[in-house]
Amino acid sequence: MSSSHCIAIALFCIAFLLGGISASHAQLSSTFYDATCPNVTNITRAVIENALLSDPRIGASLIRLHFHDCFVDGCDGSILLNNSDTIESEKEAALNNNSVRGFGVVDDIKTALESACPGIVSCADILAIAAEESVSLAEGPSWAVLLGRRDGTTANRTGADITLPSAVDTLDTLKEVFLAMGLNTTDLVSLSGAHTFGRARCVTFSDRLYDFNSTGNPDPTLNSTYLETLQGICPQDGNENVLANLDLTTPDTFDNNYFSNLQLENGLLQTDQELFSTTGADTIDIVNNFSSDQDAFFDSFVESMLKMGNIGVLTGSEGEVRLNCALVNADSSGSESFLHSSIETRDNAEDKYAI
Ligand code: HEM
Repeated sequence: MSSSHCIAIALFCIAFLLGGISASHAQLSSTFYDATCPNVTNITRAVIENALLSDPRIGASLIRLHFHDCFVDGCDGSILLNNSDTIESEKEAALNNNSVRGFGVVDDIKTALESACPGIVSCADILAIAAEESVSLAEGPSWAVLLGRRDGTTANRTGADITLPSAVDTLDTLKEVFLAMGLNTTDLVSLSGAHTFGRARCVTFSDRLYDFNSTGNPDPTLNSTYLETLQGICPQDGNENVLANLDLTTPDTFDNNYFSNLQLENGLLQTDQELFSTTGADTIDIVNNFSSDQDAFFDSFVESMLKMGNIGVLTGSEGEVRLNCALVNADSSGSESFLHSSIETRDNAEDKYAI
């Protein structure tokens, strides 16, 4: 091969690598607000700390908002948008409605940030920072959040119905859903570890207690003592909105007990237990590793959160920085810029909380 050929190939490889790197990391940066809103993290943390005083579940709810934002058309704050003439909200998609929560706290963070640095911090970035701070406040890892996302001006309810994973998906389906987002099997297992805190409603797991896969019997991969506990919390034909802890051992702490629970068949959701109980699955070794080594879980979790936070981001002059997280700016003008979310009242309305 001639030397000019070699140089051409080398240049192509460098260009390809640079292109690949910039595409996979978009233009997000951990220092994005250093000059324009240096206290963004502290301000966000303080609002969450205050909310935790009356709502120990709120951190879990906030990280879930970031996940459900990123999985539907990228991390663009679209899950926060209310219905309007132009928006069919994601928050009322089947898997979000009466399920995702925390909008009032996002509004409180936005209000505090608008007061400190008006028009600077996007709602999509607020969700990413809130997710990290929530994990850190629950004794989990901290990390440098990559920032600079812009807010989208559309929502995609149909997309939410299609792409969000359901608690009755098979392991193969979960892998496919995650792969479509650029997330591999290790990402699936580490991110599922977010179920180390927070709650789930009876409706999301009660089939496992009484009629698993239409067998008329409970899920055979559910620990019998745990089964009895859960049947007490969620009686057949009872209130489907009653809550159970996702992690029966340390419900509000971010740790690796989620994985030791799975080893004892104490996973709450079908999709949790499948990671360990699917015969021959490659996820079993990952669960065992995370169960025996919390640092390995934390490292992997951080890496996966950074990957998830990069899905489909808008940067530069794309999208906008919303002034009100629930409204696109075109709909904010003329209003009093009241920070208010349409289903906010539901945040406090539920919580018939058992265990
Ligand atoms: C692997 C696929 C996943 C499925 C099928 C799934 C499903 C669910 C379900 C059904 C609930 C309870 C919802 C309700 O009660 O209405 C829930 C709660 C939760 N999910 Fe997931 N999830 C998945 C992945 C994730 C990921 C990737 C994260 C974050 C990184 C996450 C974080 C949470 C948290 C923290 C809660 C508790 C929220 C709260 O208490 O408000 N989940 N999930």
